[in-house]
Amino acid sequence: MALAEILFLSRQDLMGLGISMPDVIATVEEAIRQLALGQVNQPEKIGLHYTPDRALHAMPAYIAPQQALGIKWVSSVPANTERGLPQTAGLVVLNDPDTAFPVAVMDGTWITAMRTGAVSAVTARYLGPRRVEVLGLIGCGVQMRTQLLALNPTLRPRQVRAFDIRPAALEAFVAQMQELVDVPIAACGSAREAVDGADVVVSATWLLPPQNPPIKRDWLKPGSLMLPIDIDSVLEPEVYLTADKFVCDRWRAILDIHEHGWLPAGLPTLYAELAEVVGGQKPGRESDDERIVAMNTGMALEDVSMAKLAYTRAVQRGVGLRLPFIGSRDELYQF
Ligand SMILES: NC(=O)c1ccc[n+]([C@@H]2O[C@H](COP(=O)([O-])OP(=O)(O)OC[C@H]3O[C@@H](n4cnc5c(N)ncnc54)[C@H](O)[C@@H]3O)[C@@H](O)[C@H]2O)c1
Repeated sequence: MALAEILFLSRQDLMGLGISMPDVIATVEEAIRQLALGQVNQPEKIGLHYTPDRALHAMPAYIAPQQALGIKWVSSVPANTERGLPQTAGLVVLNDPDTAFPVAVMDGTWITAMRTGAVSAVTARYLGPRRVEVLGLIGCGVQMRTQLLALNPTLRPRQVRAFDIRPAALEAFVAQMQELVDVPIAACGSAREAVDGADVVVSATWLLPPQNPPIKRDWLKPGSLMLPIDIDSVLEPEVYLTADKFVCDRWRAILDIHEHGWLPAGLPTLYAELAEVVGGQKPGRESDDERIVAMNTGMALEDVSMAKLAYTRAVQRGVGLRLPFIGSRDELYQF
């Protein structure tokens, strides 16, 4: 028997494990709560911006109560659209906390999409309006699909309004997602049509420093929640500079991205990091007319907690491809 094996889990393997969006929301919320309790070791992510419009992030974390240890290596290349590909792709490596040996390598693209949707749902629970008539969506790619799958059962909107600058992407989104959610989705002809007067707005567009960002502060009504998972790529600065509360998952990550050209008009005043709200150290929404912006850039603990959940299920069910890694103890001393 080999001393160490790696379990490889493809996207199809992960999708076959029966991990539902409610499972992901519960896992991610618990990991965020553990951060608030000081149970997470999570160094700042390393951003490798190797060209001005391409980036890779290395995101390690250890969550003690979940015994989850690992790292995600995830890319962002907006120009992939021209190749018919989404901009975000990644891998997660999971390690055994005892030996720190790697035990699994898995698709991080599905994990990223599922956990990013779940984080928005957790954020909306604490910071969203009590009643949501309209959910506005800007940028109808991979992430927006899971944003909708997570936010629809959380917010129960009466209508979804969606916009994408590529009409074919918008059409495909509406056709696919209308089969998956029980709320009517309207395809909008402009960003304003989707955003103006909406109670909750999500933007998930190309991750590029903003140039003539289309979303105006005046379109966001009092009491709204703005969830820009693409930083400020499509937000005019007044949106975040004049918010009643500005929340983010990691302030240090906002400072880093600011150095690379985002938030060019300056930094907003931080109200709280998400974990402080989830952990009860600071109140979430306190009034029906607060305009709140929650700019979550994504944390490693979300990926690593998800990877641990997936690995545990995969081992129980015998799913995945076992790859030889190290044959024997002796082998480690041979060269
Ligand atoms: N915060 C997080 O944790 C996190 C995690 C993963 C991805 N993201 C971000 O989410 C965003 C979307 O990623 P994806 O993988 O879904 O990409 P994708 O390429 O699948 O989709 C992006 C969509 O946005 C559309 N778009 C671009 N500019 C637009 C604009 N100005 N108005 C309307 N639509 C526009 C494109 O046509 C495309 O359909 C990226 O910015 C990515 O970096 C954030």
